[in-house]
Amino acid sequence: MIELDISRAKAFLSNAEFDGGRKKASEALKTVEKRDGEGAEWLGWRDLLSDPNDAILEQLHSLATAIREEADIFIVCGIGGSYLGARAVIDALSSFFGNKGPEIIYAGHHMSGQYLEELLEYLAEPKADGKPKSVYCNVISKSGTTLETALSFRFIRSWMSDQYPDSLQDRIICTTSAEGGALNKLVDEYGFQKFVIPDNVGGRFSVLTPVGLLPIAVAGIDIRSLFYGAVSKFEELEEDPQSLLNYVAVKHALYQKGKTVDVLTSFEPQLESLGGWLQQLLGESEGKDGNGMFPTVATYSTDLHSLGQFMQDGARTVMETFITVEETTGTLIVDEADQNNDGLNYLAGMRLHEINRGAFEGTIQAHVKGGVPSVVVNLEKLNAQHLGEFIYLYELFTAVYCYSLDVNPFNQPGVEDYKSEMYQLLGK
Ligand code: PA5
Repeated sequence: MIELDISRAKAFLSNAEFDGGRKKASEALKTVEKRDGEGAEWLGWRDLLSDPNDAILEQLHSLATAIREEADIFIVCGIGGSYLGARAVIDALSSFFGNKGPEIIYAGHHMSGQYLEELLEYLAEPKADGKPKSVYCNVISKSGTTLETALSFRFIRSWMSDQYPDSLQDRIICTTSAEGGALNKLVDEYGFQKFVIPDNVGGRFSVLTPVGLLPIAVAGIDIRSLFYGAVSKFEELEEDPQSLLNYVAVKHALYQKGKTVDVLTSFEPQLESLGGWLQQLLGESEGKDGNGMFPTVATYSTDLHSLGQFMQDGARTVMETFITVEETTGTLIVDEADQNNDGLNYLAGMRLHEINRGAFEGTIQAHVKGGVPSVVVNLEKLNAQHLGEFIYLYELFTAVYCYSLDVNPFNQPGVEDYKSEMYQLLGK
């Protein structure tokens, strides 16, 4: 279960301001439902959940199980919406140290030559028992032409084809559009396995397609629970969208009042990548035509020692979104020390989770007193089902919030500008 608490954000608004936001939110939800807004052809992420495809879940699960048995390393080669969702879920649900199963390595998400070179050297290093590593690669690109991904994949593919001439087709899996793009040409040429990204689902809304689901399954996470968690949120919000509409209303009204930065934060470091996914979902969707709140990620309490001063006391243009977890798995309890030399005996008997929770409560109180409207999104537990709920909650939130600002949530024309400047300089 996920609870939304907007009370500490709503408190910064007058009734009239909130009601104005609420009206916009209701109209925007209708635009999503009627599919009559700009970009409506990209609403396929809702169809995935209203009509689940169990066969594809089963197919992804079987392939992932086979890869988990064979692979030492699984490379996820993609950028933006083609990898952030998988990374968010994998980081949230994996151990911090020493995970079982293949090591998941990300590539294709930047153009550092040093990174790629070191990666290829690392792949080539034998294991502790002297045997060569078994490497698999999932290259993910809807367009099939994104430079960061395509370039990295060229190097990885070349290394893998030298290393595994007889099993290359089993080891490379391409996730791309049904047709078109360079990746489809490579699939035709080499006979790589392929999963299709539906045409009506854009990159940042694609985590619940094979884009996110295959890497997540290879990490050993139950993709059925994740997917059906999203389905349950879909059904709940179809039935009763009031909580979502109130949340959109608050964020909409705060934006009208001059809040221009949304700091997405958590006290759980394994949620930093979830913040990264949300940052892209919001930022690439709302930041258009001079509009939008700038989404940025902070991990507390670490970043209270870098950003805390600003959050408490800097320019009052910020709001904060806290992602909290009601019950974590950590069991460590602070012992009573004989000599209280470190002065920590006042914490004796408390679980670290309680102390962390106390830090959250103290922080939100202080920031709200300092003038920062704050929203809390509380996950009952950190598991696949609740993350699935979270994913759909924010997909719908993003669409409705963007429409409330009269922004098309589903395109990203600005991203093309850096590409055309870059291609010109590189002589394409
Ligand atoms: O959300 C988006 O559409 C983008 O972030 C894309 O996912 C990203 O640019 C990668 O594109 P592609 O999958 O075509 O390589």
